[in-house]
Amino acid sequence: MFPEIARDDVFRLETRRLWLRWPRGSDAPAVSALAGDWGVARWTALIPHPYTIETAERCILAARAGNARGSSLRFALTLKDFPRKFVGMAGIDATDDGPRLGFWLGRPYAGRGLMSEAAQALADALFRITEAEELSTVILTDNAASRAVLEKCGFVESERFETGFGRHADSPVVRMTLRRDEWQASTGDVLRPALAFDRALA
Ligand SMILES: CC(C)(COP(=O)(O)OP(=O)(O)OC[C@H]1O[C@@H](n2cnc3c(N)ncnc32)[C@H](O)[C@@H]1OP(=O)(O)O)[C@@H](O)C(=O)NCCC(=O)NCCS
Repeated sequence: MFPEIARDDVFRLETRRLWLRWPRGSDAPAVSALAGDWGVARWTALIPHPYTIETAERCILAARAGNARGSSLRFALTLKDFPRKFVGMAGIDATDDGPRLGFWLGRPYAGRGLMSEAAQALADALFRITEAEELSTVILTDNAASRAVLEKCGFVESERFETGFGRHADSPVVRMTLRRDEWQASTGDVLRPALAFDRALA
């Protein structure tokens, strides 16, 4: 799904306060500590619990492999003021239902608007470098913080299900979706640089 430009670990995104870069093996202790917090994991369908450093190392390797194949774009989030400070992860995976957004932030860093910056940067990247028509994610119906992040980026509720998947197999969930035309209307973007780039090479 993602073009050549995103398939190398030099590819990164910048927001006002964050770098979004490919995860590295050295992030594993922070991933294990921050995502190992049940207060984070319980809101997600798939974050393992407990989350050992070895599990984190395997997940990071899998994320890098998916990024290199172009089937995902998963990033580690670090603070620009303290670039070695890993604070969470956010990414997009290709699924049978189209591109799917996922994110989590370490609890010490929550409530400062950081994930809203990261989610917006990911949506911008998806629509600018791929031809995807929409980006969606499925969250627990009572995940108010995630819903607020998504709504700030223009996502709207598109479907409701009585049950989710993974850890949420017994809980009601909602799908939140951002369509390209809505994203375009809010950003004023008219160009698809990936397409312009391909044409330039042709
Ligand atoms: C969801 C999460 C990423 C939010 O990160 P964050 O950086 O704190 O998010 P932001 O600060 O950008 O925005 C949070 C918004 O939620 C709102 N919020 C937080 N808790 C809330 C609650 N209990 N009820 C209502 N709104 C809430 C905040 O007020 C804020 O909105 P505002 O900017 O309009 O005031 C973080 O809480 C997290 O990692 N949660 C667990 C994992 C998860 O749920 N992942 C998504 C599902 S896969």
